[in-house]
Amino acid sequence: MEQRHLGKSDISVSVVGLGTWVMGGWMWGGAEDESSKKAIFKAIDLGITLIDTAPVYGFGHAETLVGQALAEAKARNRVVVASKCGLEWDENERIRRNSSSKRIFEEIDQSLRRLRSDCIDLYQIHWPDLSTPFEESLDALLKLKKAGKIREIGVSNFDAGQMEAFDRDGTLASNQVPYSLFEREIEAETLPYAREHKIGILAYGPLCRGLLTGKFSQETTFPSDDLRSADPKFQGNAFLEHLKAVEGLKGLAKEIGVDIGSFAVRWAIEQCGVTSALCGARNPKQIEASSKAASFKIPGDMLGRIEEALRLSISKPISPAFMAPPL
Ligand SMILES: NC(=O)c1ccc[n+]([C@@H]2O[C@H](COP(=O)([O-])OP(=O)(O)OC[C@H]3O[C@@H](n4cnc5c(N)ncnc54)[C@H](OP(=O)(O)O)[C@@H]3O)[C@@H](O)[C@H]2O)c1
Repeated sequence: MEQRHLGKSDISVSVVGLGTWVMGGWMWGGAEDESSKKAIFKAIDLGITLIDTAPVYGFGHAETLVGQALAEAKARNRVVVASKCGLEWDENERIRRNSSSKRIFEEIDQSLRRLRSDCIDLYQIHWPDLSTPFEESLDALLKLKKAGKIREIGVSNFDAGQMEAFDRDGTLASNQVPYSLFEREIEAETLPYAREHKIGILAYGPLCRGLLTGKFSQETTFPSDDLRSADPKFQGNAFLEHLKAVEGLKGLAKEIGVDIGSFAVRWAIEQCGVTSALCGARNPKQIEASSKAASFKIPGDMLGRIEEALRLSISKPISPAFMAPPL
């Protein structure tokens, strides 16, 4: 699979990465551990070299599964493990941001233990914490880098101004941000800033939480512990509009002989400045389908038709901000 440099760092990652949020079960209506592990094995077999996880995904569960799977497959040195810090939660699973140095130093050792590793390749601040000075978080991460506990420093959900404020010494490897055919906010400032400053972009949610696989219909409902039950894109008229757009995109994907899911992932990784698309998968079939995005190209003359299909269906783009944890 095609590998790309992550920003100015020494790390290279596959253009399709495996996301493990769903494997934690939390906010996705549960998950099956055996199936999750098989998805990790399959990803490695397919040549995927980037696995993204976080402590908050199932409150340690996704990291634990990644650690187990990589140990069982003896594959730790074949993949770039990306994890995160800077969120905390209480006994009722209420999340808040905390990127204080104290929190970061606590989290790293817990994550390393769960991941069964002595180093995390890419360590990302999960959400900007505006109550902690960025300098404090960056200093903590630089200390971890010096101590050999992490290889590269990344952020996630940072806008252009926040990247500029954080990256005072040019060490920032990447920013992980929402990006899909349906979620385009980063195109205004974040993506151009990252391109200009050679900061890698890890696009998350390229399938728009499954919507861009074309498997949903207006009859589809989600359990209350599935985040899609609270996602405005999956409600009422907005849902109908997105389903209509999916039909238009399906037709375009068919013209070039691919399915809409891999078409959507391909579109994300073809956008200038995007390093890799992080695709969530709860089983091997799902990651196998997404991985196909690495093996074809969308013809240049189809790009305008994609925009037209979106314009004709969606009256008002909805940002994924509903997922943001409180400050
Ligand atoms: N930094 C952040 O704040 C942040 C936020 C979100 C995500 N992320 C990262 O990005 C990764 C990907 O994002 P995401 O998981 O939210 O969204 P996504 O990749 O757009 O969607 C993944 C979901 O779509 C469904 N799906 C995937 N492939 C499928 C296929 N071939 N056929 C049918 N359904 C399929 C599965 O859910 P069902 O089977 O339940 O339908 C899967 O869990 C995450 O795992 C995480 O690593 C980071």
